[in-house]
Parts: sequence; structure tokens; C-alpha cells
Amino acid sequence: MTYDSPHAHVPGPVFEADQLVKEYDDGRVPALRGVTFRIEDGEFVSIIGPSGCGKSTLLNMLGALDRPTSGSLKFKGTSIPDLADPAKYRGQEVGFIFQAFHLLPTFTVEENVQIPMFELPWSRAQRKKRAGELLDAVGLSHRLGHLPTKLSGGERQRAAIARSLANEPGVLLADEPTGNLDSQNAVQIMDLLCRLQTEHRITLLLVSHDLHVASHANRIIRMKDGQIVSESRPGDVAHSPQA
Ligand SMILES: Nc1ncnc2c1ncn2[C@@H]1O[C@H](COP(=O)(O)OP(=O)(O)OP(=O)(O)O)[C@@H](O)[C@H]1O
Ligand SMILES: [Mg+2]
Repeated sequence: MTYDSPHAHVPGPVFEADQLVKEYDDGRVPALRGVTFRIEDGEFVSIIGPSGCGKSTLLNMLGALDRPTSGSLKFKGTSIPDLADPAKYRGQEVGFIFQAFHLLPTFTVEENVQIPMFELPWSRAQRKKRAGELLDAVGLSHRLGHLPTKLSGGERQRAAIARSLANEPGVLLADEPTGNLDSQNAVQIMDLLCRLQTEHRITLLLVSHDLHVASHANRIIRMKDGQIVSESRPGDVAHSPQA
């Protein structure tokens, strides 16, 4: 595959959060209660914790899909909530993968993968070529013209991964990417994500409540009740009584 990220791998953190707070419903729901962390360029970090602890909330802040209530959150030194054009940031810097795949049902697999490319100044031929390469990389070149409804769950997630890479992001935000898959497909998807992350040195943040999935990362951040409670390397966690 010829996926080459145009993003310079600069030293220093890609993401930096300091005392990040997010409250919903006028403060009645404290989803994040003072979260502080750094994510370095090219790292693969898993965020793990029980349902409702704030994992998706955190990912949404990182992807500029929602705004924090207080605290600071920076992408390569720039404040994410203060971005003049959050859509441009999402379009140029970030790829998203969701538990529910979020493929558009009336578009073919190939068209779905091309959707993020419409933000870029690419010709029709360039888009088509790149979609073909990405779908080849995820093992779906035989399904280009299929509608998502005709694919298996694992195939849909592979198509969604191809789409997440379409805009050549430096950062991939994955929220429970194996949550709707059986264990065999989950293994394949994790192998694929790990391969893509290593080959292209993408900074990958993966949210999961499954320790096996999370353990593919270089670092695991464990959350509880809107706070970070511990950090570890997968080797340590395997022997942790909390695991
Ligand atoms: N839009 C919203 N309005 C109000 N409360 C919300 C909203 N989104 C999330 N919450 C609440 O914020 C808290 C954190 O939710 P979040 O979705 O981040 O949890 P999570 O860790 O991703 O859980 P899960 O593993 O179930 O996906 C929960 O108590 C949730 O009910
Ligand atoms: Mg969630």
C-alpha cells in the first residue's frame, strides 16, 4: 500500500490535556473531572475504563466534536477548543473509527472511502486510485462496489478503517472499534490497526473497555468516574490485580 502521511513527525506532544473538565446538563453530569495527560507523536495509547467513565467524551474533545467546560487541551501546541476552523482540523489531521462503523448505507464501499477526500484538492482519478489502495490494504479490493449492508461486520469495520485513513491523518481516534465484532473479527481488526499504526507511525488513541484489545497499545490509560486513575504498559497490566 502506498499510504504516506504528509504530516511531519515533530518532537513534542501531539496532544496535551491539563485539568480537562467536561460537564453536561449545566453541571449536573460531570463526565470529565480534571484529566491531565500527554500523548507523544507516533504513540499508540489505549484508554480503558467502565461504561460511563468518560472515554467517548474525552475522544470527542480530542476530535473537536465537543468543547470542554474548562481546562486546556492542545493539539501540537494549539488549543483545540479555540480552533478557528474545527472542521478543517477534523478534515486534515484526524481520522475517526466508531463502534457502529457509521458507513453511509446508500453509497458503495469505494464511495464511502472517498468521502473524506472531497475535503482535499484531489481529482476524481486520484480519489479513485487512493480508495482502491486503501481498500486493498484492508483486504477489501473484491468489495469495492458493494453497499455496506452487503458486508459482514468485520468487513464493514475494515471499510471504515480504510475511510478513516482517506484524508491521510496523523492521528487516528478509535472508539470501541471492535465493540460490535466477534472475537475472531476483533483480532483481525486489531492486527490491521496495529500494522497500519506501525507502518505509518500514526498516533493512535483507542478507547475500549476490553483489556485484551487495549493491551495492543504501548501505553494504557485507565479511567474511572471521569478521572485518570492509573497508567501502565501492557506487560504491567497483565499482572495487575485490577486488570
Ligand atoms: N450529550 C450528553 N449529555 C448528557 N450527558 C452525557 C452526554 N454524553 C455523555 N454523557 C454522560 O457523561 C458520562 C460519560 O459518558 P461517555 O459516553 O464519555 O462514557 P464512556 O466511558 O464512553 O462509556 P461507554 O463505555 O458506555 O461508551 C456518562 O455519565 C454519560 O451519561
Ligand atoms: Mg463510549
